[in-house]
Amino acid sequence: MKLRVENFGPISYADVEIKPLTVLIGKNNAGKSMLAQLIFTLMTLTEGYIPRRFLTSMLQHIRTTEDFIAPYLRQVDDLRKKIKEAREITHLSCVKMVVDMIIEYLTQYLNKTLGDFLERYFAMELKSLVNLYSDYTRVECAYSKYSIAEFTITKDGNLSAKFDIKMMDELIDNILKDEETNKLINRVIRSRGGRDFTSTIAAIEKIAEFIFPKRPLLSTLYIPAGRAGLLEGYEAVSSALIALASTAPLKGISVPPIPGMAYEFYSLLLQLTGRKGPFEKMSDLFKEVIEGEIVFEELKLPKSKMVYRFKFKDKESSVDLIHAASMVKELSPIYLVLRELVDKGYLLIIEEPESHLHPAAQVKLMEIFAQLVNEGLEILITTHSDILLRKLAHLVMEGLTGGRANANLKPEDVAVYLLKPDEKGYVTREVNILEEMPTFDEVIEQLYEEERNLCYLSLQREMNEASPRNF
Ligand SMILES: Nc1ncnc2c1ncn2[C@@H]1O[C@H](COP(=O)(O)OP(=O)(O)OP(=O)(O)O)[C@@H](O)[C@H]1O
Ligand SMILES: [Mg+2]
Repeated sequence: MKLRVENFGPISYADVEIKPLTVLIGKNNAGKSMLAQLIFTLMTLTEGYIPRRFLTSMLQHIRTTEDFIAPYLRQVDDLRKKIKEAREITHLSCVKMVVDMIIEYLTQYLNKTLGDFLERYFAMELKSLVNLYSDYTRVECAYSKYSIAEFTITKDGNLSAKFDIKMMDELIDNILKDEETNKLINRVIRSRGGRDFTSTIAAIEKIAEFIFPKRPLLSTLYIPAGRAGLLEGYEAVSSALIALASTAPLKGISVPPIPGMAYEFYSLLLQLTGRKGPFEKMSDLFKEVIEGEIVFEELKLPKSKMVYRFKFKDKESSVDLIHAASMVKELSPIYLVLRELVDKGYLLIIEEPESHLHPAAQVKLMEIFAQLVNEGLEILITTHSDILLRKLAHLVMEGLTGGRANANLKPEDVAVYLLKPDEKGYVTREVNILEEMPTFDEVIEQLYEEERNLCYLSLQREMNEASPRNF
């Protein structure tokens, strides 16, 4: 995904490309989290469109809402109508019809849902997202080589969005070259968009996949900063919400709002059930950093429920996760999400993964991230850690010199963006970490300068004290 952002929150201009490992750095308030959340929103948004969601749920007879099915039914109906009306239909004209339809529906979809997504995840009114010193926000998001979604928000909070295709001829050429898609289109044409409903929706789905790279459902996960604190509150918040859920409105109790991304985090934690997923083996890498593991145990009292406990390495005993060290609490959501929910192709957005970590643990953590990336995960982090970034540079350098295979990183798989101030707000600049460590080095140099002055002053004092005048 490539993203170009103008006047969004504190950011006046950002131009970023999501690579297998993407890092956002910059001073506090620079807009790193807002940018990360925007990426989360835009990634999550598209998962709702892909027809596969509809097809799968239909085939499994899962009840879905009328509202959800309607656009796809309309899409199939519209295609049938167009095919029936057309005098002559060829593969080329059929593919063009579907692509045009997808553009139209995606534009409608974006206009209908994007505003809600943004308000929900940012827990702000749309107008508050517009940079205070500008009249509008503009975002351009290229989901793939061919697809581009654009939206603007005005100062008054009006959102308008558009979906478009770049390099239409090349796209259509590629679609027509694909054997499976051609077979489906054949069926659609033969039935003149009539009886063969399943093939029609499958053809639309296949063509949509050329426009949008296919991603597993709910495959972008956001892990916020302050995880230890959120985890401590989770038990209380989730029990209270569950206890209040049915009767709160009747009793006139209003449940306090939980800010968007914290709510998302709690929803993510609620998905954890103790079942192991495809990345279970890889998640074992975390055991070394947290110096133990997290076990799932049944708690009998006060009433029976399953809880996560932290079990120290080489010890039989375990403690409730909320009584474990801060480092464990910070890392355990990442560890558990990895162990249970994640699969190849997932994008993990992790805010400040270095929080509460000793420098040695930070070094190990970056190695783990590199290994995960090499196993097919995408990771985006925001960070203030000089150590994480230096280790990242080493892994890239090792890659260039052909070091260890599993934790090496290829330079083209890594992107580091610095958000730095300019006159209107913050702008991104891609950083070559093999050559510079911006912002961190500035601080180190300042400290060095300070140290030199202090040395000089203390030397002077010693000399004064030792001078004959004192005798
Ligand atoms: N519409 C807006 N215009 C200008 N600034 C805004 C706007 N909305 C939010 N901000 C400011 O942007 C900042 C939030 O940015 P964000 O949380 O993304 O920073 P960050 O780089 O993640 O910082 P940290 O390193 O502390 O986590 C806050 O200072 C907030 O007041
Ligand atoms: Mg932040």
